[in-house]
Amino acid sequence: MAPHITKAVIPAAGLGTRFLPATKAMPKEMLPVVDKPAIQYVVEEAVAAGLTDLLMVTGRNKYALENHFDRVAELEATLEAKGDLAKLRSVNESTGMANIHYFRQGDPKGLGHAVLQARMHVGREPFAVLLGDDLIDARDPLLQRMILEQEKRNASVVALLEVDPSQIHLYGAAAVEATDDEDVVRITGLVEKPSAESAPSNFAIIGRYVLRPEVFDVLEKTEPGKGGEIQLTDALQRMAVAPDWTGGVYGVVFRGRRYDTGDKIDYIKAIVQLASEREDLGPELRPWLKQFVGTLQD
Ligand code: UTP
Repeated sequence: MAPHITKAVIPAAGLGTRFLPATKAMPKEMLPVVDKPAIQYVVEEAVAAGLTDLLMVTGRNKYALENHFDRVAELEATLEAKGDLAKLRSVNESTGMANIHYFRQGDPKGLGHAVLQARMHVGREPFAVLLGDDLIDARDPLLQRMILEQEKRNASVVALLEVDPSQIHLYGAAAVEATDDEDVVRITGLVEKPSAESAPSNFAIIGRYVLRPEVFDVLEKTEPGKGGEIQLTDALQRMAVAPDWTGGVYGVVFRGRRYDTGDKIDYIKAIVQLASEREDLGPELRPWLKQFVGTLQD
């Protein structure tokens, strides 16, 4: 039996230009989704999937990410002295969840380049990649399923979402073949951000991957692609067509709730949806939302 996967890489070094000016001096992964920064949901998801050794890839202006997962003794002491135990618990939630290591990507040359920075830390074992701005609702677990598929097939596994064809140009798109398992497909080809006309399907890659370490050997030789960036999708394309030594690439089709917090509209939707479902906020927010929607004109 192969040992269970324990390592996850969380790339969070992107510039976040879609969210300027908010991200001029602050990482987009620290933007609050209701009352927790996006990155904390991602770390919680990794921990819930049994991953205990996390490497966050960070860069310029990203100190807030590291600070968020540290203890703040003065804050804890103040809350304790006030007897505010609920707030103390919320502050402590983000510390001690997992072993978090940090690596700086000196020059943000793309997602593929960010993943390549993890090579020394990961070594020669399969590992997960969770994008720091992509949220999967905790009620719709995905990563556990992907880890099982990786272990079963000894291949690399990506998460796929069926999107409207008009949106496929925003994603990596996959050409797929069915397998005997429902919601698992074999990937025969991948292309980064294709036009709607040239896309091989409307299966889009979203920000969860469970990869074999051969990805590092491929990434090392991957030239900059779309947008002048070293693309993870390009490396996965090469792995998909060389299953003899890479194990190939499979996709788990995700049908749950997902929020791309790097995108303004999706970010707003995530906050409204999650807040309106919360026990502490929903009862006040929902009636207000209904009333507000009633005032909207097309
Ligand atoms: P995005 O494609 O969202 O790029 O990166 P970005 O630069 O963060 O944001 P925009 O498009 O300018 O608004 C996808 C993921 O890859 C990480 C990002 O942090 C995000 O989690 N990334 C991207 C890196 O870690 N390094 C890079 O060089 C590029």
